[in-house]
Amino acid sequence: MSGIQYLHQSIASGAMHDSDARYDPPKCHPKTRTMVLDAIMKWIRNKDRNTKILWLNGPAGAGKSAIAQTICEMSAESGHLGASFFFSRTDPTRNNPTNLFPTIAYQLAMYSLNFKSHLETIIELDPSVITKAMDIQLQQLILLPFQPLNDVESTPSRVVVIDGLDECIDEKRQVRILQLICSALSTGGHPFCVLITSRSEHHISTEFQQRYISKLYHQISLAYTDDTDIRLVLESGFLEILENPMHRDSMHDIARPWPSQDIIKDLVTRASGQFIYAVTVLKY
Ligand SMILES: Nc1ncnc2c1ncn2[C@@H]1O[C@H](COP(=O)(O)OP(=O)(O)OP(=O)(O)O)[C@@H](O)[C@H]1O
Ligand SMILES: [Mg+2]
Repeated sequence: MSGIQYLHQSIASGAMHDSDARYDPPKCHPKTRTMVLDAIMKWIRNKDRNTKILWLNGPAGAGKSAIAQTICEMSAESGHLGASFFFSRTDPTRNNPTNLFPTIAYQLAMYSLNFKSHLETIIELDPSVITKAMDIQLQQLILLPFQPLNDVESTPSRVVVIDGLDECIDEKRQVRILQLICSALSTGGHPFCVLITSRSEHHISTEFQQRYISKLYHQISLAYTDDTDIRLVLESGFLEILENPMHRDSMHDIARPWPSQDIIKDLVTRASGQFIYAVTVLKY
């Protein structure tokens, strides 16, 4: 069995942004979140960026995973995606950190033949590196195979997207992941940046306030959503319902515009900046 085949046995393939397990994941409706998306893409493309970590935080349902998904799709298209890992509290294959670094390493190998060949050599020498402690996994499966490449200049800037850090079991493990990523990024010599999304839970925000990390990261807080974005999602959702051939008979006699502008306005107010409210209204 080749090294990459060994590795493939230990990855959480359902955690990747384009996995079938996550089919039809939440993503940003076109024309929403344009400023945040533009700012993140600009940061990803810029190799001379000041910070290598972006912490996107906000309350439950604020739209963090939707942004992470859209960033994965945009950066995959522009050739800037390195890897993605979407934690999920309820999925045992992706609610723990065991497979995080193997899954990231596997995806990086798909983008670089050189990286892949160094990685394979390391795994073939000792396949048990795949199941070692997280710090050894990171060192052996990501940092070490990258070292001999030494072509940072010619490698495009790549983002590693880690969504829902707070959905990984065990707060201590979440903090450990942060610490390991920081120590890896603080050495330089690689073209990676890391987008981490999570709710602003106490232990995570406390860790981000530590000195060792403060110069490495910047953050975007999704406290409020622009009402224009909420309106857009509602209007286009209602239009879809109206134009759906399955609803043709039941919607035939309904007065247009449907729903009225007053109702839309009322729903936008009730949503008070929460996409989840708009999406739930459209579902029911
Ligand atoms: N820009 C957007 N356009 C359309 N729908 C959105 C947008 N952002 C979020 N939503 C919808 O709102 C809901 C919640 O979004 P999302 O899952 O991204 O929240 P979250 O911040 O990741 O929450 P959690 O902390 O629970 O993981 C989803 O159903 C998603 O489809
Ligand atoms: Mg989420």
